[in-house]
Amino acid sequence: MGKILDDAALDALFRGARTHNKWRKKPVSDTLLRALWELAKMGPTSANCSPAHILFVKSPEGKARLSPALSEGNREKTMAAPVTAIVGYDLEFYEKLPFLFPHNAEARSWFAGNPELVRTTAFRNGSLQGAYLILAARALGLDCGPMSGFDNGKVDAAFFPDGKVKSNFLCNLGYGDPAGLFPRSPRFAFDEACEIV
Ligand SMILES: Cc1cc2nc3c(=O)[nH]c(=O)nc-3n(C[C@H](O)[C@H](O)[C@H](O)COP(=O)(O)O)c2cc1C
Repeated sequence: MGKILDDAALDALFRGARTHNKWRKKPVSDTLLRALWELAKMGPTSANCSPAHILFVKSPEGKARLSPALSEGNREKTMAAPVTAIVGYDLEFYEKLPFLFPHNAEARSWFAGNPELVRTTAFRNGSLQGAYLILAARALGLDCGPMSGFDNGKVDAAFFPDGKVKSNFLCNLGYGDPAGLFPRSPRFAFDEACEIV
């Protein structure tokens, strides 16, 4: 508690971490994907609602199913990546609140019958969990390539046909080849993006 990470850790998570476009052939084990979830799942969500549903596409069959939904610019690298995570959110997350938020028996009723609140809560918290997944992957030595350039409807039809889970974004995972990197783009300085009142 309260311990500051060293520079090597900060570089791995933020300063040296990049969005990768080219992948080495090195595979990613299922054991590593499980370790990834063990970290990512600990990130905070409202009422601990944890709406993320992650589908790790590894098999050639799964990749072939994903391919038609991808934008042209994302297809080749996604087919080459050892793993593509479909980061989705579960619109029935509130059914699990008696388990996830046991100290408030009312929690399920905040959402049941309120589809707009369900959708915004699932999308907000599912997106946060996707970000936790990226940082957890980097912490475990994996590189990431997040993507929104795909047809969500096609992905949902191909992978989540019961309509309960919706895709949010995709994230290629593996060991990146720096040869495929673009130059680092600028970021806002504190005064351009932040205020203190
Ligand atoms: C939610 C999300 C969606 C993105 N969609 C795409 C995409 O469809 N195709 C792509 O090539 N890059 C995509 N990117 C990558 C961004 O362009 C990249 O992360 C950004 O330029 C910063 O690059 P850096 O991490 O190397 O500094 C996406 C990133 C995020 C977080």
